[in-house]
Amino acid sequence: MQIFRPGSVTAGHLSTISLTDAGTFTTDAEDLLAAAMAWPSLEPDPNANPDAVDNRPPWTLRANMIGSLDGGATIDGRSAGMGTLIDQKLMGLQRDLADVVLVGAGTVIAENYPGAKVYPRRAARRRRWGRSELPRWAIVASRPLPADLPAIVDSAEPPFVITADGVDQPAGTEVISTGSSVDVGAALPLLADRGQRRILCEGGPTLLGQLAVGDHVDELSLTIAPTLLGTGSTTPMLGGVDLLAQRAADGGADRWRLVTLLADGDHLFTRYRRER
Ligand SMILES: NC(=O)c1ccc[n+]([C@@H]2O[C@H](COP(=O)([O-])OP(=O)(O)OC[C@H]3O[C@@H](n4cnc5c(N)ncnc54)[C@H](OP(=O)(O)O)[C@@H]3O)[C@@H](O)[C@H]2O)c1
Repeated sequence: MQIFRPGSVTAGHLSTISLTDAGTFTTDAEDLLAAAMAWPSLEPDPNANPDAVDNRPPWTLRANMIGSLDGGATIDGRSAGMGTLIDQKLMGLQRDLADVVLVGAGTVIAENYPGAKVYPRRAARRRRWGRSELPRWAIVASRPLPADLPAIVDSAEPPFVITADGVDQPAGTEVISTGSSVDVGAALPLLADRGQRRILCEGGPTLLGQLAVGDHVDELSLTIAPTLLGTGSTTPMLGGVDLLAQRAADGGADRWRLVTLLADGDHLFTRYRRER
C-alpha cells in the first residue's frame, strides 16, 4: 500500500507499507497510517485570538464508506463484495482512532455486526493514540432492535441506541432518546456529552443520507472499489437523498478537500474534508 501527499500526487508516493506474514501491520506502519488518518483537533487552537468566539462543536463526525466507481454502495445487499483485506485493516484502524462507531440498524442487521470487545493488540494501540480501550457502538433505530443481536449480547460495553421516546430497546443497551422522533443531528451533542466526541459513522446509506442532509459530516473516508455496478447496486451511497436539491437553497453543491490518499493495487483509500 502506498501513501501519497494530496496536492502532489504526480510527485510520487511518500511511503510503501506492507502487511507482515501474520497479516497485521507493524507498530511503525500502524502509527504512520494513524498519522495519515488523524482526526482534526478538538482542543482549543492555541494560536487563536483569545477574544474570538470558538463556534466549533466539541465533536466531529467522519463517515467511512466503500463505493464502486459509479457510487454504488452494495452488491447483493452487502458492501463486503467490494472490499479487500487492506480495506478491512483500515476500517479497524479507523475504529481504533474513534471514540464511538455510529451505525444504522439496517447495517448492524445486514452485516451482522459483532460484539464490541477488548482485544489486547487493539487496546494497546488505542491507548497509544489516547483513546479508551474500546470503541462503543451507537446504533440508530426507530423501532425496537432484535434482543439477540451480537452487537448487543456480545459487547463488553453496552451499545448506545439512538431512538425516540417510547420505543422499547433491549436490555443491555444504553438508550439515547432524541425526543418524539429520531433525530441524528440532535444525537451528536448527546454522544459528545457522554465523552464520545470522535464519531465514526459506518453507514449505511440511509443514515449517511440523513447526516449529509443536516450537513453533519465533517470528513468522508471513501474507499473506491475498481468496479462499475450501475443499477446492479440497489443502494447509492446516500440512499434516496437528493443532496443537490437540498443544497441548492444554500448556494450550490458541496465542496470537499482531499486530505489523505492511499492506494493498494487498484483500490484507492481517500479521505475528504468538508469545506464550509
Ligand atoms: N458501502 C458501504 O460502505 C456500506 C456501509 C454500510 C452499509 N452498507 C450496506 O447498506 C445496506 C444497509 O443500508 P440501509 O440504508 O438500508 O441501512 P442503515 O442506514 O444502516 O439503517 C437504516 C435503518 O436505521 C435506522 N435509521 C437510520 N437513520 C435513521 C433516522 N434518521 N431516523 C430513524 N431511523 C433511522 C432505521 O431503522 P429502523 O428499522 O429501526 O427504523 C432505518 O431503517 C446493507 O446492505 C449494508 O451492507 C454499505
